[in-house]
Amino acid sequence: MSTSLFDDDISGLEVAPGRYYGPGSGRDLPIAFRLFGDRVDRFTFCDVNYHKHRTSACGGVPAEWTLISRVTGRDDRQPEKRTWYTADPIQPFSAIEIWRRRDGSEVMVELRRDLAQDVLEQQFAPKSISAFLHINDGGSEGGSNLVFLGSDDGHAGHRDSGERLLPMLATRLCHGAVVVTDGRMADPEFRIGRPFERAGKRWEFIGHIRNSR
Ligand SMILES: C[S@@+](CC[C@H](N)C(=O)[O-])C[C@H]1O[C@@H](n2cnc3c(N)ncnc32)[C@H](O)[C@@H]1O
Repeated sequence: MSTSLFDDDISGLEVAPGRYYGPGSGRDLPIAFRLFGDRVDRFTFCDVNYHKHRTSACGGVPAEWTLISRVTGRDDRQPEKRTWYTADPIQPFSAIEIWRRRDGSEVMVELRRDLAQDVLEQQFAPKSISAFLHINDGGSEGGSNLVFLGSDDGHAGHRDSGERLLPMLATRLCHGAVVVTDGRMADPEFRIGRPFERAGKRWEFIGHIRNSR
């Protein structure tokens, strides 16, 4: 894997075959498509505040992509869920959009209202995620308090009390998966840039990207 990946120079980014997952993804879609849009064919964005009718990848996908279909539906297999983040309980739903790239290939984009920790646990098979992005989130007001890149081993470095999900995430990452973090909601080693081992995986720093939409 390259160690010289900077800013706009993402053409060398190698991504293994697999799915994209973005938890608590709010307005992260343009960043995700900028990084992974031409090399991942199936995206799942999850946020408890997504809205059945208003939430779409439109405006986030590259301008040359065309929308082929859009289907929305409640997920009645799931119970209504309570979260401290929203005033009312939420009923999970998905909007599934099929987009076509300029070269004719298709991309499936799922926008899901649900608890991101449940979606990770229930909808991703072992080794199925090849790209993961969790940025601009936190443990205080306005943040999900979900520490996707945090484990009990790294607990000493955490300032928050959030749920540590790295063991669950690590089993779902495929070999060579690319993980994008701003270092928040993560064990301190993710901020240092040196290789380390955690949750049964070896983690290597591959470069910086612009955190802008
Ligand atoms: C600080 S915002 C960051 C959002 C996104 N990264 C951005 O910059 O637009 C945290 C997001 O997490 C969502 N959220 C909070 N708890 C969640 C949960 N348990 N599952 C899924 N999304 C959650 C919120 O609705 C909010 O959009």
